[in-house]
Amino acid sequence: MQRLHLGQTLHFESRGYPQGPEAARHSSRGGVLVEDGVIAATGEADELRRAHPQAEVTDHGAGLILPGFVDAHMHYPQTGIIASWGKRLIDWLNDYTFPEEMRFADPAYAERMAGLTLDLALQNGTTTVASYCTIHPQSVDAIFEAAEARGMRIVAGKTCMDRDTAPEGLRDTAQSAHDDSAALIARWHGRGRASYAITPRFSPTSTPEQLEALGSLWAANPDCLMQTHLSEQPDEVEWVKGMYPEARDYLDTYERYGLLGARAVFGHVIHLEPRERARLAEVGAGLVHCPTSNTFIGSGLCDVAGLAAEGQRLGLATDTGGGSSFSMLRCMAAAYEIGQLRGAPPHPAQLLWMATEGSAEVLHQGGRIGRLAPGYEADMVVLDLASTPVIAQRAARASDIWEALFATMMMGDDRAVAATYLAGERV
Ligand code: GUN
Ligand code: ZN
Repeated sequence: MQRLHLGQTLHFESRGYPQGPEAARHSSRGGVLVEDGVIAATGEADELRRAHPQAEVTDHGAGLILPGFVDAHMHYPQTGIIASWGKRLIDWLNDYTFPEEMRFADPAYAERMAGLTLDLALQNGTTTVASYCTIHPQSVDAIFEAAEARGMRIVAGKTCMDRDTAPEGLRDTAQSAHDDSAALIARWHGRGRASYAITPRFSPTSTPEQLEALGSLWAANPDCLMQTHLSEQPDEVEWVKGMYPEARDYLDTYERYGLLGARAVFGHVIHLEPRERARLAEVGAGLVHCPTSNTFIGSGLCDVAGLAAEGQRLGLATDTGGGSSFSMLRCMAAAYEIGQLRGAPPHPAQLLWMATEGSAEVLHQGGRIGRLAPGYEADMVVLDLASTPVIAQRAARASDIWEALFATMMMGDDRAVAATYLAGERV
């Protein structure tokens, strides 16, 4: 069956970080034709109706039809401790995060939190997440099962930690991390809409032996992603240097064990040294900006404009529960504010691109999701650009779509999400 969605549409004309608004085409009365969960055509509403008279029409009125948001870095096991007060990274992990992650030894708890988290994402218009799990393999099954039940495209992996910097009860070993991850890859990678990411939490919670074991696992499974944290807080960077005195820098603690490549996805990337930036650009690794988390945990102001100018591959993420909102709109607002503090505010086109195609590309899902174009999976969000009185009055005096959309980016929340679709099916 064909379904034709009508509303406002915005399309990026070319791939890659947009230089500005001219990178996208707006239609105030556009359409997206969906057949069997896949986008069959896009264009002007009238032309699509004429060309496909048999298609069932869903008219979203003035709603803006966009690709579903892609949250390129988050931790579903931290939903329960979101918005926990007063700590910076290392204390925040020890005092809030690790005790909560221990609870995921219980598969029933993992199942409940996985379902809750994905529903919160969908309610906010996020159709794909890349989630960390805990050290427990059953926590990985829980999120993949929850995504499969909802028809969601997902990236996830078992978080690996074998150093005594992680508490007793939340440690695996180099061998078990390798073997458990390998079994999960066999079970989940490429099954339906699932992809596996090999997931060492970060260098401070792994021994070199574990990083090496995961490096070999990745070499044996090169089409998996590898996700981890890089250079989030200055204290963390110093800690890493003390633990790995032979490493040239933080990135080198991954690089020397085979954990650097185009399918690597590094979260935060705030306090990078010139060699790290050059090397990341050279290999084309994915970098993920986590603005709400970076302000909440007090990590710093990521140089997004500089990274984009270097041609780095950039995505955007909530990093919940380090970040305190599931909303990618809120995330775009925080990215704007951080850009302002750095003297380089991103244009709404750049924010929207990072939250959709940029994140999709970082997760190597480009060509499938993140764009409304023929052949792409029909994961879509429809935004109401007048979802509250204050947003409505601001949008009413906007002179173009970007000005209208920016009001929703800055002030919108899940009330702005009029509808979410997964592979053409309304959630
Ligand atoms: N670094 C290592 N683990 C974590 C985590 O769970 N959250 C954040 N924000 N940073 C990390
Ligand atoms: Zn994280």
